[in-house]
Amino acid sequence: MLAAALFVGTMPQMSDPTPVCDYEGSDYRARFWENQGRDYEDRAERVALRRLLPPTGRTLLDVGAGFGRLADEYRGYDRVVLFDFSRSLLREAQDHLRHDPRYLYVAGNWYDMPFVDGLFDTLVQVRTLHHAADAPALFRELRRVAAPNAAYVLEFASKRNLKAMVRHAFGRQAWSPYDPEPVEFVALNFDFHPDWIRARLTEVGFTPGRMLTASHFRFAPLKRVVPTDLLVSLDSAIQPTGAWWQLTPSVFISSRSGPGGAAEPESFFACPTCRTPLGEPIDGLMACANPSCGRRWRVEDGLYDFKEPV
Ligand SMILES: C[S@@+](CC[C@H](N)C(=O)[O-])C[C@H]1O[C@@H](n2cnc3c(N)ncnc32)[C@H](O)[C@@H]1O
Repeated sequence: MLAAALFVGTMPQMSDPTPVCDYEGSDYRARFWENQGRDYEDRAERVALRRLLPPTGRTLLDVGAGFGRLADEYRGYDRVVLFDFSRSLLREAQDHLRHDPRYLYVAGNWYDMPFVDGLFDTLVQVRTLHHAADAPALFRELRRVAAPNAAYVLEFASKRNLKAMVRHAFGRQAWSPYDPEPVEFVALNFDFHPDWIRARLTEVGFTPGRMLTASHFRFAPLKRVVPTDLLVSLDSAIQPTGAWWQLTPSVFISSRSGPGGAAEPESFFACPTCRTPLGEPIDGLMACANPSCGRRWRVEDGLYDFKEPV
């Protein structure tokens, strides 16, 4: 997380004043994952995800999918949307998934999603909420695009973790891990309290359910001496204790959207500005038919680009 903050910029949006952590052109994959000693975290996250993710379904949305690190976990779905603000990371995802037509690559801002209401059976969000300056607005948008009774699997950075508690107890950290409000420890990098997350999800109409804790052994000296297989097995065994207490920096929570919501949608994409459903692209453009909007959005080499109109 901190590493991400070192090489990404912030970008105020024209239509939405909420700042965005901009990964465009970043080397996130090489800098954060490839040979960076994070196999344990990657595998522990996959264990938790598999426990909470419905294994099959029609439509899945990965919110902040980046370079598609977790895309191979979604093989049971008919259509998978990898959604991210960074075109360059989506192009990296496309490079390794191009052979599989079930994946769609969509660039846009999660506060204004380019999808019709009630579209997705399953929503997944891993390692991204920490960049949300307005998490309640993001949750509202996710609730809008969630189908009735959709599953929403969210991983978030928890502020009430053991390390933060110890640091706070010894006066090494100004903010309290027990304060329910999010803490912005670096610009556009937030940690959240589990109770606050549950309350905000409930407010927008999700019903929070099972919680798992992950990355219990995120401690470099330990990772160096203990085999990764063993650490992952131990993490896997302890993850269910997240139902009672959460002491890890990474917490998974699964929610359901409830029975209400949109009927079976006839369209897929909607104008992110005015929400008018969009038709098929013509000559690489999707045009909004609302006369008071009329914005046009580019589709180029398989990338649906809703970051800004043409
Ligand atoms: C730390 S990366 C995680 C990527 C991926 N989920 C993973 O676990 O490998 C955070 C991602 O969130 C995306 N992101 C941040 N703010 C966004 C926004 N407002 N709308 C869409 N994506 C956003 C970034 O572009 C980046 O790819």
